[in-house]
Amino acid sequence: MATAKPVLCVGCTVIDFVTINESFPKEDTDRRCRDGFWQRGGNASNVSTVLRLLGADVEFFGMLSQSDGFRVLLQDLERRGIDVQHCPTTDKDPPFSSVIIVQGTGSRTIVHCNKNYPYVTWEDFSKIDLNRYGWVHFEARNANETIKMIRSVQEHNRTHNEHITISLDFETLYEQNLPMCALCDYVVFSKELANQQGWRTAQETCKELARRLESKSPCIICPWGSTGAACLDAASNGCSMVAAYSPDRIVDTLGAGDSFMAGFIYATSVMQNNLKDAVSFANRVAGHKITDYGYDHIAELQKYDKLRTG
Ligand code: FRU
Repeated sequence: MATAKPVLCVGCTVIDFVTINESFPKEDTDRRCRDGFWQRGGNASNVSTVLRLLGADVEFFGMLSQSDGFRVLLQDLERRGIDVQHCPTTDKDPPFSSVIIVQGTGSRTIVHCNKNYPYVTWEDFSKIDLNRYGWVHFEARNANETIKMIRSVQEHNRTHNEHITISLDFETLYEQNLPMCALCDYVVFSKELANQQGWRTAQETCKELARRLESKSPCIICPWGSTGAACLDAASNGCSMVAAYSPDRIVDTLGAGDSFMAGFIYATSVMQNNLKDAVSFANRVAGHKITDYGYDHIAELQKYDKLRTG
């Protein structure tokens, strides 16, 4: 298997407080949950976790906090070998999410509390030596700063021999974040955002997004739950559907999208898969993620693959 330079994941890390419930709670009731746990969350933070579990070298770049509550998140990043050496810090309390998981369906309902927590800036980003990385992954947020960061990677690519791949996780604020897409190699567009646009299928989403980006279209990927995921190849303009990996049980869907993203990056950068195969592997990682709570069990995929490939 090819070795790849580390992946840099730019975005948020938050605390997820998760309760496991028999059913979705009724408003204004007081009830006990079946179980619960808390864990480090946030899109880019979860992508980093899953990439690490799959065996990639990862650095996370996001705002860290000096508050007491954040210490456990730092310990978790360290324990997993996720490099945070370039992250700036603040003394503000970290963002957190209250997550309700319903047993049986594995559905996750997230209420996120950001409290105007500061986000990393282009100035912070410009201090990093990009030569270290083979791939830079961005969350589509804080458009003004993120666009400048993406442009820095493009500028690096223009002036160096090696191409750093740029990916974007596009889940919110369609109008504000749309200008980032044309600057990237890969855009993963969420089903929820597609529904907000009135796009009814994964393939329709890829085609409609490409139409809006006109000639500068990246490869577009749209995961669509148990239906699978669509991908549109920028080179051929061909759009195909890749079947989902159907797990034997659904336990916890929190972070399934982030696991898909990490699976895609890993398959493309480390396994050197083509677009469709990488999407298929991403489906497999997301499908396996939802069979258990948290993320640690994703490491099993690595072991099976090692056994399979000898
Ligand atoms: C899952 C997740 C959670 C976090 C929330 C932030 O995709 O990253 O870990 O609480 O989304 O929106």
